Parts: sequence; structure tokens; C-alpha cells
Amino acid sequence: MITIITFGTFDLFHYGHLRILERASDLGDKLIVGVSSDMLNFAKKGRRPICNEHERMKIISALKCVNEVFLEESLELKEEYIKKYRADILVMGDDWKGKFDCFNKICDIVYLERTPSISTTEIIEMIKT
Ligand code: CTP
Repeated sequence: MITIITFGTFDLFHYGHLRILERASDLGDKLIVGVSSDMLNFAKKGRRPICNEHERMKIISALKCVNEVFLEESLELKEEYIKKYRADILVMGDDWKGKFDCFNKICDIVYLERTPSISTTEIIEMIKT
């Protein structure tokens, strides 16, 4: 049984989000997703998500490729989360390439290519203008 863990905000759920989760799930048997809390997102991106953490967790839980969802409350807890969920592989988007290699003693790290031309920020900007 190979367990995969990944993290993200997944606000205004879009095609790029679906693709990374499906590709992550294809790497093993069980996909666990840490959804960033509203507070963590504010600290990280300087704005509150449009969809709150409960809504975002509900959406991610409803996906066929996802087996379990939890709330990621701090960036500092990545190692604890990896250990707690006994993850064999940590998946991150390649915008983070190299940044999580420090965990390679406890799991494999796979950086997946981001889907081009879509992001939550771009969607918000498009709607605004
Ligand atoms: N992701 C992706 N392709 C995209 C957008 C996001 O593969 N076009 C991946 C990210 O690499 C990450 C996950 O989806 O692993 C969640 O990313 P998140 O930051 O929530 O989404 P973004 O659309 O990048 O949000 P923002 O514009 O607010 O940074």
C-alpha cells in the first residue's frame, strides 16, 4: 500500500487542481490531502480565500481520486503530517521544486508540473477586470 500526501489551498477549485490530484493519486493507492486553513492562507498569500476551509475541504473530499482530507494549520508541521499519515510520497507542484527535498529521509518527494495558464489568482483577476 503506497500512501501519497499533498497540500494546497484549492480555492475556487479549477482544472489545474483536479489534474494535480489525479496525477498524485496515480502514483499509489491512497491519496491524502492537507487543505490549508483560512488563517494559514492569509499568512501565506495575504488574502482570505473566497471559499472557506470547510467548503474547500468538502469539495476535495468529494473527489473520486481523494481518500482522506485534513486541515493544514501550519507550514511548520509538514514533517509531522507526513509521519502522522505514514506517507510514502510527498507530491508538490513544480513551483516548489527543490523546496521540500529536506524531507527525503522520511519519504520520496515528487514535484509535478503545474497545468499551464490557470490559477486561482488569475481567475480572480479575470473576473475583476
Ligand atoms: N496547481 C497546478 N496547476 C495549476 C495551479 C495549481 O498543478 N495551474 C497545483 C499547485 O502546484 C498545488 C495545488 O494545485 O500543488 C494547489 O495549488 P493552489 O496554490 O491552491 O492553487 P493556485 O491556483 O496556484 O492558487 P493561487 O493562484 O492562489 O496561488
